[in-house]
Amino acid sequence: MQDKTSFPYGAGFRSLTEETPEPVSLAVQGQLPPWLEGALLRTGPSKFEVGGRSYNHWFDGLAMLHRFAFSQGGVSYANRFLKSKAFCAAEASGKISYAEFATDPCRTLFGRVAAIFNPKLTDNCCVNVSGYARETVAFTETSLPMRFEPKTLEALGVFGYRRALRGQVSTAHPHYDAKRRCHYNYIVDFGINSLYRLCRIGDNAKQRIVANLPVERPSYMHSFGMSQDYLVLTEFPLVVNPIELRLSGKPFIQNYRWEPERGLVFHIVAKDSGKLVRTAAVEACFAFHHVNAFLDHDRLAVDVIVYPDATIIDQLYLAPLREGVPITATGTLTRFHIPLAAEAPVTRRALADVPLELPRINYAACAGKPYRCVWGTGVRTEGDFLDSIVKIDIEAGTVARWHAAGLYPGEPVFVPTPSATNEDDGVLLSIVLDTARERSFLLVLNAATLAEMARAEAPYAIPFHFHGSYFPSGPAKA
Ligand SMILES: [Fe+2]
Repeated sequence: MQDKTSFPYGAGFRSLTEETPEPVSLAVQGQLPPWLEGALLRTGPSKFEVGGRSYNHWFDGLAMLHRFAFSQGGVSYANRFLKSKAFCAAEASGKISYAEFATDPCRTLFGRVAAIFNPKLTDNCCVNVSGYARETVAFTETSLPMRFEPKTLEALGVFGYRRALRGQVSTAHPHYDAKRRCHYNYIVDFGINSLYRLCRIGDNAKQRIVANLPVERPSYMHSFGMSQDYLVLTEFPLVVNPIELRLSGKPFIQNYRWEPERGLVFHIVAKDSGKLVRTAAVEACFAFHHVNAFLDHDRLAVDVIVYPDATIIDQLYLAPLREGVPITATGTLTRFHIPLAAEAPVTRRALADVPLELPRINYAACAGKPYRCVWGTGVRTEGDFLDSIVKIDIEAGTVARWHAAGLYPGEPVFVPTPSATNEDDGVLLSIVLDTARERSFLLVLNAATLAEMARAEAPYAIPFHFHGSYFPSGPAKA
């Protein structure tokens, strides 16, 4: 347990082990939009200790699912641990049993085989929740997404990829193409001949490979880009030797090396033909999140939250986070222009000069298309954890911010109003830690103005986490 007086946001990195499996009504301050009928489903690391041993990294903790359900102007809350094999094995043995991002299991359970090649690839889906082939699915960065029941949060088993899509590592950020009625994702198959497998998962559950790209040193890529007709695989120069990964005996991410001389390499693949249209390099940088991508005349605009290098990964280990060590690495919304014609140079420019992370857009209206609004979490005070919600209007070049002393908001999920005419007609849903009360609350903001509309306090402090999605009531949506 941390000394809560040493820095304000310590409760955001403490384990939460209480579950509320039956929804409880939350008191609402303000007014929820009457049209908001559905549920915000989120996942995140929630248990950081097993049997007296701590996981190493924020990304490692055992996943908990959270559900804020909206109906008739009210909101209810429920949460449950995701009953993955990784969770159940830890519960049963009292030991960390599966390898996570930066933590390996106890040696006695693990032996000498590198965890990524071990049959016990983790299914601890603590990164994102999304529709996927008409199911509700939680994701981590392995090829084992977990299906769950969206009302009860009960785990339903791993989402099954076809054998042809085999591989070990994937992203928690699949893209949805409403026109083609499918998701796109990529899977890395580590081996003597390693591959990036770009794949397509249909709403009809049909799965097929779009392209296999051979790679000698696979890159750590947390997300990728998608325009209407192209997929953009962005290889950051944080790379791994697959043989070392197999033999080093080190946790997964600690096998990756920063090799900036490689530069940042974009691979542009046509969705329909699977053809590699262009590979282009530019000066090295690192990112977790793509924001959007679209065709701008004869070039692709690819928007990414860029860091100068990969030190942000080191700054997110639990020990420094729990000691309140200032976070000095910040991301900047940056646009790359990649001409589709061979040899023309890639250019880049910052779209705003404020730190930004956990970006969201009006995805239903703008994914893969020209757009103007990005929402995300920001940092007002240098070195602080994410302490505000930011709206960037790319076209107007303006930045708006919501913040309040002692409050630490999470990813703002955009939900459009049913009759929306403007891109920013809608609300933002964010889970905010109130450090004075050591409780979290659901915050509802007007997405256009960032004016507060409502808040509803949860029964406890919800640990800081990553991503989720809003699912409107009614027939299942992708
Ligand atoms: Fe992410």
